[in-house]
Amino acid sequence: MTRHLITSALPYINGVKHLGNLVGSMLPADVYARYLRARGHEVLFVCATDEHGTPAELAAAAAGLTVAEFCAQAHATQKAIYDGFGLSFDVFGRTSSHQNIEITQHFARKLFENGFVEERPVRQVYSATDGRFLPDRYVTGTCPHCGYERARGDQCENCTRLLDPTDLVNPRSAISGSTDLEVRETSHLFLLQSKLQPEVEDWIDRVSGQWPHLATSIARKWLAEGLRDRAITRDLDWGVPVPADTWPDLAAAGKVFYVWFDAPIGYLAATKEWSDADPARPDWKSWWYDTTDVRYTEFMGKDNVPFHTVMFPATELGVREPWKMVDYIKSFSWLNYYGGKFSTSEHRGIFTDDALELLPADYWRYFMIANAPESDDVSFSWELFASQTNKDLADVLGNFVNRVLTFCAKRFGEQLPAGSAPGAAEHELGKRLSQLLADYERHLDEIELRKATATLRTMWSLANEYINDKAPWTQIKTEPDAAALTLRTAANLIFLFGVISEPVIPTTAATLRSLWHEQEPHIAGLGWPEGHDVEALSWLQPGTGFTVPPVLFAKITDDEVSSWRSRFGADDRQVQL
Ligand code: 2FM
Ligand code: ZN
Repeated sequence: MTRHLITSALPYINGVKHLGNLVGSMLPADVYARYLRARGHEVLFVCATDEHGTPAELAAAAAGLTVAEFCAQAHATQKAIYDGFGLSFDVFGRTSSHQNIEITQHFARKLFENGFVEERPVRQVYSATDGRFLPDRYVTGTCPHCGYERARGDQCENCTRLLDPTDLVNPRSAISGSTDLEVRETSHLFLLQSKLQPEVEDWIDRVSGQWPHLATSIARKWLAEGLRDRAITRDLDWGVPVPADTWPDLAAAGKVFYVWFDAPIGYLAATKEWSDADPARPDWKSWWYDTTDVRYTEFMGKDNVPFHTVMFPATELGVREPWKMVDYIKSFSWLNYYGGKFSTSEHRGIFTDDALELLPADYWRYFMIANAPESDDVSFSWELFASQTNKDLADVLGNFVNRVLTFCAKRFGEQLPAGSAPGAAEHELGKRLSQLLADYERHLDEIELRKATATLRTMWSLANEYINDKAPWTQIKTEPDAAALTLRTAANLIFLFGVISEPVIPTTAATLRSLWHEQEPHIAGLGWPEGHDVEALSWLQPGTGFTVPPVLFAKITDDEVSSWRSRFGADDRQVQL
């Protein structure tokens, strides 16, 4: 059986991430990982903090810490937040690990042996005002391709093209704003992407057939423009050191690898962290080296696509060892905030720590997956968030569960009643749900998350329609056996929702599965339902004890919306959705 390797783009270490970061990689990857596990697949879900590069150095300096101290703290902070969101990483590693240093250096040596890395003299931007060479992203200016005025020296976030700082028009230092920049000569390692282009192209032709349009179009655009050789070392204190055995001079000069060279290798290294942590676990290479039964899926925002479709594959191909390459890329556009960008510097939008302080994770998970920016950008607004939450979670799902079980407990006690045998309405309901379950599975298999969530919501709605049509509160007056059947069927729907909603709203789903008392041992171990079991809707038999849960989802009030709007800086721009 196929094993599933799933990676989420590695969040940068500096700063708590906002909801846009979460919905662009980690959260959808988690939904997919949870779904595959629930279907009985072997899954390894890997993430880590991306710790190298100048932002970490600057953030550490601002916090008065060494970079190592800063990263250790920031890693723990991020990890706690992701735990709070229920992200089920098998490992949440760190790219500053010794494992990553080892594997990155190995890759670099192999690329050199195979003629795909070479040392070249370069002219690099030096800022006299700052007293240092400026790393690419700390030179900003106007993009020569699209005219965007705040392009960074490594990449234009407007048109996604990779840049060299010397390409920028009107360059300035992002640290001091100084335009007193000069170009000095130094020497760096280059990855010869131009030599690897034909192989990357062949590989893309072979594997990208089913990828989302967003991912293939970015990859194709890059290849059509021709791959440029790319400097993979930097003059920084913090990073994977260039190995002295292969490049003594560069190592002595303190060069480290470029953060985008070692970050994707961090996926492998985090897996090694995972296997090193417990001798009972399989060797990390069983997931990454010379495998035939692993399907590898990567999740990322669109700005990450070039690195994952071109640079990292070129690296893996050039090493000339059978490292696992990605099979499927799931890429995302942006989640905006009232039509504008989330901004860390302006503290505009919602950050993951604040979000968890306001509401439990499932509220956010549901909204973000239901509205995941799978093709176009999507705009968050508090109004939309409140209305969807109140409708789908509070009214459709939560209220259904609460009113069924409250009424059942009141009229029959906290045990499911026997009543009549299922009739035409129950057969029809079971059949329809089983068809919808097949659709839901197909959407999840294809990682079409908005469609999957819409299908799940339709299943919840169908349960509401059933109970409204049957109206057990009226049935009870004249046909108590019919009311009993309705409630027992509804209880089975709640049980079903507890299993199938788990990938999207795991905490609530666990609550829904925990309502039924232990006297029913057969339900404890029940996995993902089969279609015919959904048709029968009879996991829970008469006599099953249950507990009435407290209200599952509180409604978001207008007062909360307006207070959150002012706290999180929503302006009055038009809402796009
Ligand atoms: O864009 C980002 O947030 C990067 N830290 C993603 C790195 S993904 C992987 F290659 F490590
Ligand atoms: Zn541009």
